[in-house]
Amino acid sequence: MRKMIALGIVLGLGLAATAAAQDAKAKGEKLYADQKCAMCHSIGDKGNKKGPLDGVAGKLSADELRQWIVDAKGMTAKTKSTRKPDMKNYALPKEDVDALVAYMQTLKK
Ligand code: HEC
Repeated sequence: MRKMIALGIVLGLGLAATAAAQDAKAKGEKLYADQKCAMCHSIGDKGNKKGPLDGVAGKLSADELRQWIVDAKGMTAKTKSTRKPDMKNYALPKEDVDALVAYMQTLKK
């Protein structure tokens, strides 16, 4: 009986974690739209095709994705990117950055 309860709790927590990840993804997708990232980036058929983000999750780690959002100037220098207009640093609350990163991480090819 106790085992069953423990199993139920584990399953419940697992589902809650999945739901939280999906929430973050949906929030990130909304932030991506609100922050007008599509002015310079595209996902699928939408947005600026000069900066496709499709498959970016396979290319960059979560840390690197985060760095691009909070320190785009630093990353531009580091990657020697010459694309203009260059990206600005986004001073967003940590939860928003987390959500954007979670969304970017779903962009696998
Ligand atoms: C003013 C244009 C502009 C806007 C707006 C912009 N970016 Fe960027 N972003 C760039 C440029 C330029 C690069 C460098 C890419 C390159 O050199 O190909 C870049 C790089 C990136 C990268 C790394 C891509 C890679 O393939 O290495 C990510 C991730 C990214 N941006 C996410 C975002 C997100 C999320 C937003 C919105 C919060 C955003 N960008 C808004 C211009 C922009």
